[in-house]
Parts: sequence; C-alpha cells; structure tokens
Amino acid sequence: MPIHMKDTPEAEIRGLIEAKGSICFAEFMQVALYHPMGGYYTSDRAIGAAGDYFTSPAAHPVFGALIAVQLHRMWQVLDRPSTFDVIEMGAGDGLLAAEVAGHAPALGQRFARALRYVPVDRRVAQEMAVHAEVRPHPVAAVGAPFRKAVGCFISNELLDAFPVHRFRVEGRAVKELFVTLDEHDELTEALGDPCTPMLERRIRQLGFELGDGFSGEVNLGIGPWMREVSDGLERGFVLTIDYGYPAEVLYGADRSAGTLKTYYHHSEGGSPYIRIGRQDMTAHVDFSSVASEGEALGLRSLTLMPQSSFLKGLGFQAMLDRLKTVQLSRSDLSANTMAMRELVKPEGLGGFSVLIQERGSGVASYSDLTPAPEAALNLPIPLLGPEHTPLMEGRYPHLAMDFDELWPSERSL
Ligand SMILES: C[S@@+](CC[C@H](N)C(=O)[O-])C[C@H]1O[C@@H](n2cnc3c(N)ncnc32)[C@H](O)[C@@H]1O
Repeated sequence: MPIHMKDTPEAEIRGLIEAKGSICFAEFMQVALYHPMGGYYTSDRAIGAAGDYFTSPAAHPVFGALIAVQLHRMWQVLDRPSTFDVIEMGAGDGLLAAEVAGHAPALGQRFARALRYVPVDRRVAQEMAVHAEVRPHPVAAVGAPFRKAVGCFISNELLDAFPVHRFRVEGRAVKELFVTLDEHDELTEALGDPCTPMLERRIRQLGFELGDGFSGEVNLGIGPWMREVSDGLERGFVLTIDYGYPAEVLYGADRSAGTLKTYYHHSEGGSPYIRIGRQDMTAHVDFSSVASEGEALGLRSLTLMPQSSFLKGLGFQAMLDRLKTVQLSRSDLSANTMAMRELVKPEGLGGFSVLIQERGSGVASYSDLTPAPEAALNLPIPLLGPEHTPLMEGRYPHLAMDFDELWPSERSL
C-alpha cells in the first residue's frame, strides 16, 4: 500500500475530499472497489450464495463447457495452432478456467495440448475456491500484460467492475457528479463541470442527443483496456461477456436515471455511500464503445448478441435435454435444470451481451465461428458441485430438505 494511503477505503475517500473539496464518482468507485486494504475486490468476498452476487460460471458448469466448445471452434478456424492462448481477464475464483480446461480433452487431445489458459485477476486468492482436477495457474495482474498471443482474450463481468464517471444533462450542458461532504460530515453528491474533457467527448460521440435531466455513466476505462488487449493479441479473438447494451439502448429513455447498482448479500439498490468496501458496485457496459474502441485498433466486431442466443448456438438445448438422461435424484435434477436455465433467462444472465471481435483470423462472419451441432455432444454433462451457487437453496431455503415431495411423478422438465 502506498505509505500516504489511509487504511480503510472510507478513510481514504474522506481524506481525498478534505484535500480536494470533492472527488469525481469514478475516483470514489476506484477506492471503494480497489483500495489495497479493504476495497471490495481486494478483500475475501465470495461470489455465490455466501457472497453478494453470482455470475454465469458460478451458476452452472455448463457455461464453461459451452465456452470450451466456442474456443475449440476458434482454434479450428485459426488453423489449429500448436499453442492456443486463452487469456481470461478478471478471472475471479478461476471457475471458468477450471471448466474450460476440464472439458478441453473431450473436445480433442490435440486441442487440449494446444490450450494455454491463463486466468488473470488483479487479486489472486490464497485459497482458490475451485477444487478441480485441472486448474490453470492464476496470474495476479491488472489488465492484460501479454504479447503476441494467438488465441482469445476472454472476460466475464470484468468491464462492469471498472470505475465509471456519472453525469447529468442540464439543458444542453453535461455536468459531472462529484462526491463531497455535507455540513454534518456525511458523504453527499454535487454536480460540477466534468473533471476530464473525455467525459463530454464520449457523450457527444454518441451521435444522438440526451434530453434535459438525463443521468448516466461513462466508463472511460474501456479505451485503455481495449488498447492493452489489442497490443497483446497478434491473431484471434476477443470474447467479452457482460451486462450492457449498444449505446442507443443503454442511453435510451428506459435508463434515463442511469444503471449504477450496488449489491450486498444478493440485495440490490442500496446507496453507494454506505458499506464502502463491503458492497459491490457496477454499471452496465456501453458495448458500442467497446466495439468502436476495438475498431479503431483494428479489431473487427463479428457479433453482439444476447448470452441466451450465444449459448443456444453452442448447443445449450442439447445439454439441457441430455441432463434428463443422467441418473440423478430428483432434487439434483431440479437443481441442475434450474441453474442451467438461469443462464438463458432473458431478464437475467441470458440478457447479458456477448461481443466477439477478431483480428487476422480469416473469419468472414460469426457464422464461421458457429460449431458443428454435434460438438457439444462430445462433452460429458457437467453437474453442479460445491463451488457453484446453490440457487435452489438460496431462493427456496425450505426446499433444500424435502424437495423430492414437491415433484410430480414424471420427470418432466
Ligand atoms: C465481477 S468479478 C467477475 C469474476 C469472474 N469473471 C466471474 O465471472 O465469476 C470481477 C473481477 O474482475 C477483477 N478485476 C477488476 N478490474 C480488473 C483489472 N483491471 N485487471 C484484472 N482484474 C480485474 C476483480 O478483482 C474481480 O475478480
């Protein structure tokens, strides 16, 4: 920790405000999430039932199995290089890494030997939550410090964790939201002129007007991140999964109050100025900005689609159907079915966006990346383990004990 830094995120924030009068929201969010002592993502906060939220890899391992199918197809179209780099940024507990590596041999020994999967996170836990046979070794780093990769840079729910600037349109002017202290020494908000011209530039670049009173967020971390990824990728793909939309939807009338959210023990919506460092904070991703930053660096966008369509194109339905053929107790069958379905629910994880960009792959369109329908049939059906979120128990705690009684006699799904 830098020696001048205070020892809790809140003390650091208060100290910064005392020194400067106010700080922009992005600086507040940076400290709350990433302060070296007690920032949300620097402490031991579990994803899953015991944590504050769950992600697709934590919901069901079929997510990782189908991502392995996509990566296998990418390897094929790149002419089966003898080393196929997959660099996962913001890999968290390494669940996705373990699932992909675990399923690679079923997709072909040559692919499994070529796969060099590197899970990267700014914080690598001492005790990884994943107990898998194959577990790629995690690397502690910020961003994507790699060069000349031939393969794929992948991320799930990374960009929504980058600090955002918050703004409000007043008349035709763009004002930025700052965090300051009121007369009772409580954290409060104040509008002021933007702390960087890049905020207003991004809003002007949208190509459409935001009405008076519109409030939203701008993620200025996307550009530098995209540059790092681009610098690291010689040939291949960037696969980005997150909640977010193209700009015209993100900055549309339905979201005129912005998308900043806090999560604490699976409840959403508390003030960002409470539980500082103990609650998660996210904002939806502007995928138009990810695509255009990439285009400017020579990364061509192949597709932007909902996670539900993406997973279905990789063989989701076949995996769900095959689940019925596995010998399982009714409660295990129900838990697995429900968790798999979570991944494609339009109002939940299925509504996430998936962006695929490419450089030098020879791929003309996303249809070239669609695997053969039988690809997923080569995989064993992955089942929930102790490292996954027990959604059934989380949502219906009483069912954990006597779920069997509630099933109709037929195993209809
Ligand atoms: C919401 S979690 C997602 C974890 C995992 N991808 C998943 O789907 O379960 C975001 C992760 O990104 C990491 N992170 C945030 N900014 C990062 C950066 N600039 N470089 C590397 N990791 C970062 C955080 O430490 C955290 O583990």
